[in-house]
Amino acid sequence: MKKLFIKTYGCQMNVYDSDRMSDALAASGYEATTEINDADLVVLNTCHIREKAAEKVYSELGRLRILRKSQEAKGKKMMIGIAGCVAQAEGEEIMRRAPVVDLVFGPQSYHKLPELVGRAANEKVVETDFPAEDKFEHLPKAKRETTIARGLTSFLTVQEGCDKFCSFCVVPYTRGAEVSRPIAQVVAEAQNLVDGGVKEITLLGQNVNAYHGLDEKGNSKGLADLIYRLADIKGLDRLRYTTSHPRDMDDALIEAHRDLDMLMPYLHLPVQAGSDKILKSMNRQHTAKEYMDLIDRIRTARPDLALSGDFIVGFPGETEEDFEATMQLVKDVHYAAAYSFKYSTRPGTPGAEMDEQVPEDVKYERLQRLQELLNAQQKEFNQSCVGQTFPVLFEKKGRDEGQIVGRSPYLQPVQVDADLSLIGTIQQVSMHDTGKFSLFGKIVT
Ligand code: SAH
Ligand code: SF4
Ligand code: F3S
Repeated sequence: MKKLFIKTYGCQMNVYDSDRMSDALAASGYEATTEINDADLVVLNTCHIREKAAEKVYSELGRLRILRKSQEAKGKKMMIGIAGCVAQAEGEEIMRRAPVVDLVFGPQSYHKLPELVGRAANEKVVETDFPAEDKFEHLPKAKRETTIARGLTSFLTVQEGCDKFCSFCVVPYTRGAEVSRPIAQVVAEAQNLVDGGVKEITLLGQNVNAYHGLDEKGNSKGLADLIYRLADIKGLDRLRYTTSHPRDMDDALIEAHRDLDMLMPYLHLPVQAGSDKILKSMNRQHTAKEYMDLIDRIRTARPDLALSGDFIVGFPGETEEDFEATMQLVKDVHYAAAYSFKYSTRPGTPGAEMDEQVPEDVKYERLQRLQELLNAQQKEFNQSCVGQTFPVLFEKKGRDEGQIVGRSPYLQPVQVDADLSLIGTIQQVSMHDTGKFSLFGKIVT
């Protein structure tokens, strides 16, 4: 067996894709390793979302160049491939900057990986086309042993690409136009995961709630319909989905949150900013009030639902007053968790051409203030969980002897003293304390 080492950057879709790459290469005799020094093939599955993310790839390639040299001195060959969104965005440019790279391939070519790796043994290969065929049809199914080894929870991509073109974002260019997988294909993959021991599935899409896949009769169905179909799979206990766009939260999906207990009451719903002027120039296609009204409707349908979000500070033209509107929106929503970033100028996006770029020190200072508020809200949310009882899916041994760890509906790690035999089960747990991120509880019978 040859050894494959994959390093994954970026979002959950890259995590899912890295597993698909391992599955695809297993057929050509590659087995995954966590030890880079053993690798015959190293793949960096990259992210292009912010400048820093993209630059990480080149510093890693600097290290790989040295590693490859020392491997060659020992007579061992090592192939280097670049996958993911930097591969898609930069293509051949990567080889110009880093000649150590043998193979560059975008997210739409993973089903062709065995062939591409074969060619790369003799020549430099760049594959960044968006092919017409359905890559998912051609990707092999994960084997039962691998799904077990990968654990009790799994990602499952149901939709890829984005048609929204937010003016700061590279994703519509790196992942292409929105494509949804047919319902039957998703149900079959979910069943395969559940047969392999998976209890919780997170449906993935760049715009997952814009899902519109065909059913068996050729009718187009939304995410809510897909969720109801998956909810019927015996042995599947929990469903989640991410990332949603506020514009695509339809009534059917909100009702699914009301009616389906197995759909976890936790929603990642990025808003990015609280000022209507900035939302407009970001091309988010909604106002702050429309977002707040939407949240009211979701919380009316499912009062115990908690929210997380993404924020960008320092978008071009953002004044102190605009930033204050973001702070106010956060105060009004009360997030359970959130990710926040300084605006990063991405070449080729409309934002890069805008006047009034915000100075770095202003961005930095705003990010500090926003993160302080968001951290306080996260802490507040965790504290509000103490005294409550939630179902917890136990996933693994804890750090201390006699301890096991699972996840609450809100993705918080929960630690309890209990027997290892409960791993893989869902138990009602009463929470008695909270640490920085995790909760401590006791199983109630
Ligand atoms: N599809 C998702 C998010 C994809 S990218 C959505 O519509 O919300 C994940 C997050 O990265 C975004 O929500 C945004 O907050 C952040 N992001 C995207 N482009 C960025 C940029 N140019 N600079 C800083 N943050 C960015
Ligand atoms: Fe990027 Fe906007 Fe599409 Fe999200 S909706 S992936 S932020 S363009
Ligand atoms: Fe990054 Fe591509 Fe995901 S740019 S965030 S890896 S879709």
